[in-house]
Amino acid sequence: MNYKHITWIVLLTVGLASCGQDPNDTGVEYAPNMYHSIPYEPLSQKADNPNKINDNGLNMRKPVKGTIARRNYKTTYVDNEGKEYDLGLMIYNTHRDSIEWAQKNLKNPLPANEEIIAEGKVLYERYCQACHGAKGDGNGKVGIKYTGVANLAAGQVAKYNGGHIFHVITHGKGRMWPHASQVSPVDRWKIVEYVHVLQGQQDESGVKAGEEAEKEEEAEVGEPDEQNLTIPEGVDMVNPDSTETMMN
Ligand code: HEC
Repeated sequence: MNYKHITWIVLLTVGLASCGQDPNDTGVEYAPNMYHSIPYEPLSQKADNPNKINDNGLNMRKPVKGTIARRNYKTTYVDNEGKEYDLGLMIYNTHRDSIEWAQKNLKNPLPANEEIIAEGKVLYERYCQACHGAKGDGNGKVGIKYTGVANLAAGQVAKYNGGHIFHVITHGKGRMWPHASQVSPVDRWKIVEYVHVLQGQQDESGVKAGEEAEKEEEAEVGEPDEQNLTIPEGVDMVNPDSTETMMN
C-alpha cells in the first residue's frame, strides 16, 4: 500500500464520520471557532448560550423607549415658504421579493412635468446610462461589456409601470445591482419619470403617448391641470434632511 492509498482511506474515514442522520448535527467540524462565535453576536444566538450581561438573556437589545419604527415614520417635504407636502414615502419601504406588489400598488407621487423629467434625465445619466445607454437600449459603455443589460425601450420592459421600475432601482433585479443606497426615494421617482420617456410612454413634457389630442381638448374646455395641485413650479424636491433616513 502506498501513501496515495493511505491518504484516500484517511480522507474517506474523516469524510464519512462527518455525516450523520440528525439534520441538526453538524458532524465533525474543522476549526469550529470559525462557525461558533465566542463573542456575543447580536444577530445570531445559540439557544444554550444565554447572554449573561443583558437582563433578558438575549444578545440583541430591545430598542429604547420612544424609538420610532422606521416604517411608521412619516416623511414630509417642506418648501422654502414653509408649506408642507406629505409625500407618504415611507410606504415605499418595500421588500426585495415584493415586485408584484410594487407594480400594483406603488404610484409615483411626483407629477410628470418638464421640470421633474429634466431632473430625472440628469439622474438617469448619472446612475443608469453607463449600462442602459442614452437611449435606454442597453448599449452604454459599461453595458456593452457587462452584457445582458435590459433594453428599456422595447418589448415587455417598455411596458413596465412606475411601481415596477421603482422596485428595480431600489432592489435591483437579476444581474442588475440595487441602487437604494445611492439614490434617494424621491430621486428614484424622478428617474422613473425619465425612464417612461425612454420607454416611449410619455414625452419630455409628460404628455402620455396617444394622449396628446385629448390633452389639447381638455385645455380648450379649460379643465384644471391636475399636475399643478401637487408641487408648485421651482420647488426643488430634493431635501436631504427628509430623505436620508430612508435608504430603502
Ligand atoms: C451595472 C449596470 C447597470 C446599471 C448601472 C443599471 N442597470 Fe438596469 N439592468 C442591468 C441589467 C444587467 C439588467 C437585466 C437584469 C436581468 O434581468 O438579469 C437590468 C434591467 C433593468 C430593468 C428591467 C427589469 C425587469 O424587470 O426586467 C430596468 C427597468 C432597469 N434595469 C432600470 C435601471 C435604472 C432606472 C437604472 C439607474 C438607476 C439602472 N437600471 C442601472 C444593468 C444595470
